[in-house]
Amino acid sequence: MSESFPYAGGQARQSNATAAPDPLGGEWPSATRYASHLESYYDAVNDAYDDWSSGVHRRLAARLIAIASPFPGERVLDVGCGTGLVTQMASERVGSSGEVFGVDIARRLLEVAQRRASPRVRFFHLPAETLVFSDCTFDVVTIGDALPYLADPRRALDEASRVMRRGSRIAVSVLDRALSTPAQKVFHEQLLALERRHPIVVPRPPGDRTRLGEPAALAHLLASAGFNDVVTTTMVTGGRAATAREWTDLMMGAGPSSHALLSVLGAPVRDRFEADLTEQMRKLGDDEAFRYHHPFTFAEAIRP
Ligand SMILES: C[S@@+](CC[C@H](N)C(=O)[O-])C[C@H]1O[C@@H](n2cnc3c(N)ncnc32)[C@H](O)[C@@H]1O
Repeated sequence: MSESFPYAGGQARQSNATAAPDPLGGEWPSATRYASHLESYYDAVNDAYDDWSSGVHRRLAARLIAIASPFPGERVLDVGCGTGLVTQMASERVGSSGEVFGVDIARRLLEVAQRRASPRVRFFHLPAETLVFSDCTFDVVTIGDALPYLADPRRALDEASRVMRRGSRIAVSVLDRALSTPAQKVFHEQLLALERRHPIVVPRPPGDRTRLGEPAALAHLLASAGFNDVVTTTMVTGGRAATAREWTDLMMGAGPSSHALLSVLGAPVRDRFEADLTEQMRKLGDDEAFRYHHPFTFAEAIRP
């Protein structure tokens, strides 16, 4: 452990987050169940995560790092680091004179990250909302495709701000659901209808996260957490599935909510779901049927 290691003695320092109710977060009774739901999803996708859907997560990570642009010698924190895609790229940028830390709540993803990353990178099993780093520690913070999944995105941004130096950069990517295709909208409506009839409860965090990835909403969230000079950009990739089975297989890796339900369907229920989906897709016409987007908003900002 190097002398400059900024771990604050095992105790989370006081966050500057307020206790006021926030539409995005706050305490809620099923928080523990939500956390374990997230963990079991990430545990299940684990090895497949990086290559899911033609490697879209790798591409997202590369874009995020290009935006954050860590320099040699800088100290970087990757929040919600998962398998460490962003973390490792950051480590290559900062070189041996820099330092990189990754934090996440999913132990098995952290194990994958640790196995693959350079030994210089250090990983912590920690929630983004209660970091154990000292104030004004980092030159760069990255939060790649993680903000809407956090228990309390606003508090996580307050924590990020606390541990960032003045003038340091934050780079964030969030799925922009508004740019989903008609086929994705049809699928999600059908999945929601199935969820209402199904005995499985899909835990969800409080507040409405569906618009968080829209450029204006993300810029507003960062500005309201005290960041300056927010700039947003969009990246859209996508593809088309050939069949309903290919679609549901793909969508099982798309996020914790889809996975929670699709992964527990018995064969007859899944067959019926896919038959209905095929019918809905047929109505969309050849151009739109089974077409999907991976639309992401990237935001960069400065900690004043
Ligand atoms: C979609 S993955 C993104 C992983 C990685 N940043 C990337 O770009 O590939 C979201 C990550 O957020 C993590 N996560 C969810 N809630 C968290 C929390 N409260 N604190 C820290 N990490 C969390 C999940 O375990 C998961 O690894």
